[in-house]
Amino acid sequence: MTTIPFFPPDLFEGDRKVMLDLIREIGTAPEQKFILGEHTRAFERMLREATGAADVVACGSGTSALGLVLRAMEIGPGDEVVVPAFGCAPLASAVLEVGAQPVFADVDRHAMVLDPEDAAARITHRTKAILPAHMFSIMADMPRFAELAAERGLRLLEDSAVAQGAVLRDTPAGLWGEAGVYSFVQVKSFGMPGEGGAVVTRDAELGRRVRVLRNHGQNGQRFVHEVVGTNSRFDEIQAAFQTYRFAGFAERLERRARIAERYTDRLAGLPGVLPPPPGREGRCYYVYCLQAERRDELRDFLAARGIGSHVYYPKPLPQQSAFEPHAPADDEWPNAQHAADRILALPIYPHLSDGEVEFIADAVREHCEVADVH
Ligand SMILES: Cc1ncc(COP(=O)(O)O)c(C=O)c1O
Repeated sequence: MTTIPFFPPDLFEGDRKVMLDLIREIGTAPEQKFILGEHTRAFERMLREATGAADVVACGSGTSALGLVLRAMEIGPGDEVVVPAFGCAPLASAVLEVGAQPVFADVDRHAMVLDPEDAAARITHRTKAILPAHMFSIMADMPRFAELAAERGLRLLEDSAVAQGAVLRDTPAGLWGEAGVYSFVQVKSFGMPGEGGAVVTRDAELGRRVRVLRNHGQNGQRFVHEVVGTNSRFDEIQAAFQTYRFAGFAERLERRARIAERYTDRLAGLPGVLPPPPGREGRCYYVYCLQAERRDELRDFLAARGIGSHVYYPKPLPQQSAFEPHAPADDEWPNAQHAADRILALPIYPHLSDGEVEFIADAVREHCEVADVH
């Protein structure tokens, strides 16, 4: 039977020799430097030049990048941060970890990213920041959030963890806010075989503070601690590997966008499924998420044909037991619930063949046509 996994085990197969050589080279180098060395500096410099940021600070994960920015912005107890009600856990947990309160706002029904009007309605005198996230394949409405932050005197932090490489009105994802973040977990647009992230910012002073915080509060001088920091450092082998792989990033993104376009062409107008809004502006096809009326049946139907799919995310954040105590019990996020009940991600990694893309689209079409008859 055909098998098209959602998480392909051969994602880095083409670069295996490079990785093995780097392990030996860095592992046996006389300086024995495995974190925050010359490779991390080169990687940061490369991303800074590619984005036009004032600073890029590589760190332990996308989650810790969010936490470092919140701390560098001095957001803490008594402060509120408006976050999307539908998305990944760190949107809420990073805010709670600094002692601030996440305030959940609903998402747009189709795009499934933070709805600016609902976010605006939830701003109070305690609100310090807005934290929109680019989710699935679509950037949040950053021009509107930038306006809103300016009008209301709020800080704007951009969760661009999954959107590296996306551009909206000529501004790269990550640079709309005072700071953005990237995640390099393998499934992300610029994923790698391991854990890592980065803070990207237009504000050099904010970057400096993040740099100090990520390495135990040290400001370049070992064992001199300027502030209470944490360990969120970047791996030298991964930095060298990512620097090498950056040359193919634009091409891989383009392949993802073409696969997305093909899915949308084949699936638009079908009964019972809604493809994401089409287009290239502000898009980064980290995943390709449909909304399907009979989502679980579709997932099983695809699985029976050997096609892996994935539910990002089965519940809105305020309905998760971790975050329920931090959300008003009588509140509702109808679009977040609508999305959680319907969302299904199809495989979209760059080395999917055209034949595999057609096979997946055929299977979705077949399910919708059969389901429509019954
Ligand atoms: C939107 C978003 N923000 C933040 C993160 C956290 O990134 P990481 O897994 O590198 O901690 C993720 C990853 O799941 C994400 O999807």
